[in-house]
Amino acid sequence: MNRVVYVNGDYLPETEAKVSIFDRGFLMADGVYEVTTVVDGKLIDFDGHLARLSRSLGELGIENPMEKAQWLDMHRELVARNQLVQGMIYLQVTRGAPDDRDFIFPDPEKTKPTVVSFSQSNPHLVDSPKARKGIKVVTIDDLRWGRRDIKTVQLLYPSMGKMMAIKSGADDAWMVQDGFVTEGTSNNAYIITDGKIVTRALSNDILHGITRSAVLRFAREAQMPVEERSFSVEEALSADEAFVTSASTFVMPVVQIDGTMIGAGTPGPLTQRLREIYIEESCKAAI
Ligand code: PDD
Repeated sequence: MNRVVYVNGDYLPETEAKVSIFDRGFLMADGVYEVTTVVDGKLIDFDGHLARLSRSLGELGIENPMEKAQWLDMHRELVARNQLVQGMIYLQVTRGAPDDRDFIFPDPEKTKPTVVSFSQSNPHLVDSPKARKGIKVVTIDDLRWGRRDIKTVQLLYPSMGKMMAIKSGADDAWMVQDGFVTEGTSNNAYIITDGKIVTRALSNDILHGITRSAVLRFAREAQMPVEERSFSVEEALSADEAFVTSASTFVMPVVQIDGTMIGAGTPGPLTQRLREIYIEESCKAAI
């Protein structure tokens, strides 16, 4: 690929972009990220992603290096320079690169955050063959740390979880804590039973998905009942429908959990309706 990427104020060909080996993102996973979807060259849920970025940085005591207007310019510049029509803008902010490795945080006056951002093209986000079929998930123990509400770049366990899923013939994994589903490896998890949408309530146990918040709002507006509470694996196995949400998948039907078919084993009608509403409304509001 020959993308133009962003590193600390510069737009560069991806092959020329460099970050120090002492960067704390690289050595300590001391950084946060956001993924914002682009459809028809426009940013979806941009304000939500920026608000969460700001919160994640605040929780880790990393200074937010840019104002909202600058973040927006940077996103738009990457879309324009890469002629991105459909895909994502990935953005990462780390605590920066001090001149040596140390567990102690560097002095923020001397070490400024590192900002890296790049585009990823994906023409199959809206018209998604996967969404037509639905995905299969397996359940795995949730072995992540206790601050999953912060969108950090510590993605080793989610990455291992996806590999476990793929090795067992599934597409993704749902993580389970004390018998209850927390979330997917890179998405929020939902079931629908008797017309009620159930998803875990917000806490430090899960990422506060930007797509989750929009989808629940649209569901309530469409008079679909929503229950924000934990659900067990057993409850999920007997649900009528299941799905996941994330910026990169929107509303994605789940048709199998641990080898058990959910509903008819095809994307459920309410899930499909929610996907349509989310895509229509969020594209309308895209900037
Ligand atoms: N993942 N939960 C986890 C653990 C996630 O990593 C994500 C997003 C979500 C959904 O959040 P949102 O709706 O704001 O995208 C929930 C992104 C897409 C990723 O890591 O690529």
